[in-house]
Amino acid sequence: MRKPFIAGNWKMNTDSRGAVKLAESIVRDCGDTTDSKVDVAVCPPFVYLQAVAGALSSSPVALGSQDVYFEQKGAFTGEISAAMLKDVGCTYALCGHSERRHVIGEADELINKKVHAAVSGGLLPILCVGELIEERKTNKTAEVVTRQMKKGLAGISEAKMPAITIAYEPVWAIGTGLTATPQQAQEVHALIRKLLAGMFSEKLAEEIRIQYGGSVKPDNAAELMNQQDVDGLLVGGASLKADDFVTIIKASV
Ligand code: PGA
Repeated sequence: MRKPFIAGNWKMNTDSRGAVKLAESIVRDCGDTTDSKVDVAVCPPFVYLQAVAGALSSSPVALGSQDVYFEQKGAFTGEISAAMLKDVGCTYALCGHSERRHVIGEADELINKKVHAAVSGGLLPILCVGELIEERKTNKTAEVVTRQMKKGLAGISEAKMPAITIAYEPVWAIGTGLTATPQQAQEVHALIRKLLAGMFSEKLAEEIRIQYGGSVKPDNAAELMNQQDVDGLLVGGASLKADDFVTIIKASV
C-alpha cells in the first residue's frame, strides 16, 4: 500500500510572519492525522525555509523547496544547492514544476540534472510533469508526459527511484479552477505507472507515489484520492489557507 502524500506548494506567496503563522496553524490543525497515516510537506519560498523549519520542528510535517540547482557550489549567482536545502531542514525538492518549465523556461535536460542533484544531495525530489491545454486538445498528453518522464528520470537507477515522487499536474488545471476530472487524472496516472513499470519494474511501479496537482480544493480532494493510481496531491492555492489545506489532508486518509 502506498502511503498518501500531500504537499503544499506556496509558490511566490506569504511573507516572513505569514509563512510561520501558516506553518504553525497547519501543524496545530493537523493534530495526529499526520502520524503514520499520511505524509505531509510544505514548500515555502526559499527565503522563508529556515523560519518555517523552526515552526515545523518536532512536528511530522516536512519541509520542501520549490526548486534546487544542480551544481554543488560556486559561482552560480542566485541559485541554491541541495546541500544548502538540506542544511536548512528540507526533506523534499520540487523539480520541473510547470511554472519553472513554462514561465522560467526550464527544459527536460536541466530538470533531469536537478533530479540527480537532489537525489545525490539526500533530498527526495518531486518530479512534476503535465501537458499544456493545446497538447491535450491535440491528443498529445501521453506523448508529452512520456517524454517528460523519460527525460526527467534519465540515468536514475531503480535503486534510487524510491526517493522520487511523481506529480502529474496538467498545466491547464493549475491555478485556473479547472480541475481534471478524477477519470482524466486516473487515466494519466495509470499511464505514468505503466511507464515506470517499463522503465524499471512492475515492483518499483507499484511502490512509487504519484500525486495529482491542479486546482485541488477541499471539495474535490477525496474524489481524486479515491482513484486507484492517485496517491497524493500537490496543492497550490488551497495550501495557503491552513483550514483548506488541513481539510484536504484529512480527506486523503
Ligand atoms: P493550484 O497549483 O493548486 O493553485 O492549481 C498547483 C501547483 O501548481 O502545484
